[in-house]
Amino acid sequence: MSVTILGPQQLLIGAETVSELPLVLERLGVSKPLIVTDPFMATSPLLGRVTEPLEAADINVAIFKDTVPDPTTDVVYAGVEQMLAGDFDCLIGFGGGSPMDTAKAMTIIHGAKQGGQSGVMRDWKVPNSADMPALPVICIPTTAGTGSEVTKFTVITDTETDEKMLIMGLAAVPTAAIVDYTLTFKKPFRLTADTGVDTLTHAIEAYVSKKASAYTDMLARQAMRLVADNLRLACFEPDNPVGREGMMLAANLAGMAFSNASVALVHGMSRPIGAHFHVPHGLSNAMLLPAITKFSLNAALPRYADCARAMGIATSDDADEIAGAKLLEGLEALNKDLEVPTPKAYGIEADRYQSLMPTMAKQALASGSPNNNPRIPTADEIVALYEEVYG
Ligand SMILES: [Fe+2]
Repeated sequence: MSVTILGPQQLLIGAETVSELPLVLERLGVSKPLIVTDPFMATSPLLGRVTEPLEAADINVAIFKDTVPDPTTDVVYAGVEQMLAGDFDCLIGFGGGSPMDTAKAMTIIHGAKQGGQSGVMRDWKVPNSADMPALPVICIPTTAGTGSEVTKFTVITDTETDEKMLIMGLAAVPTAAIVDYTLTFKKPFRLTADTGVDTLTHAIEAYVSKKASAYTDMLARQAMRLVADNLRLACFEPDNPVGREGMMLAANLAGMAFSNASVALVHGMSRPIGAHFHVPHGLSNAMLLPAITKFSLNAALPRYADCARAMGIATSDDADEIAGAKLLEGLEALNKDLEVPTPKAYGIEADRYQSLMPTMAKQALASGSPNNNPRIPTADEIVALYEEVYG
């Protein structure tokens, strides 16, 4: 098979690498950044980790601080207005997946407008490809999960329709990423757990995806091993640098893996739950991961068995059937330890959930992600899976 691998030009990994931000800008030949972040981060001492090195290098600091969880088209357009009103030559996406995805979407819409193309986000959702020339984006994650700092995707909710749109293309690939695990200390249990399961889902889905390659397999396997070794540690010992570093690296490797091999059915079904019920992305993945793995298992048993081996919950002596069963047990046990609720226990009302299931199934299929799954479901099978996980 032939593959195309996309990733950032510069990838800085390790403690205190955020202090090298001015050097990253210098190498890109840019000096007028707009920092894109959320209101919480804008008042957090963490912001100083980004602004202080810039100020020390005599670089002016401007901030767009209005990003929201599950970023919306309204927020993206407001950010683009600020870009157009000022004199900026790059964006710095700082925070969790939402600020990074917002920055990526902003550069896409800004680039499209500058090139005389559509400035409407909906016009760039898959299967269209956002490949326009665009201002550089430097991503600096403060959570270990989405891997958005290296991916060619951004997920934006259409304010008019509530649809979580998948946008993909070269303009969504950050030009540079700074992966500094010291930015993740103090993050609360729930956030650490949810973003960590998002990472695990990226790695497993990239590994079983129909678009997997030797390159992405290597990244996905290492990410799975790191999650298995470090996720509980990061959750239960939040200040332990070993767990935080392991999860930050896992998120990054898994991001490179799924960006180049795609995600599959879990993500396809997870996005509509997030859009309609505002469940955090990693948590809706976690609600679905064991059931969808079970649904898909026999369609790619050797691959799923490898996942269990990579995670150290099965050995090379275990037959694929045994290793596959251990994977299912391991995913259930992880959800239990991380206190993952069912949609019902989370408080999602049964009537509304039931009535939206056909719409969610349609939206899951429309995203294209289920086509990468080892077992490609029908709309009815997706509805049955939504029903099964409800609780
Ligand atoms: Fe994800």
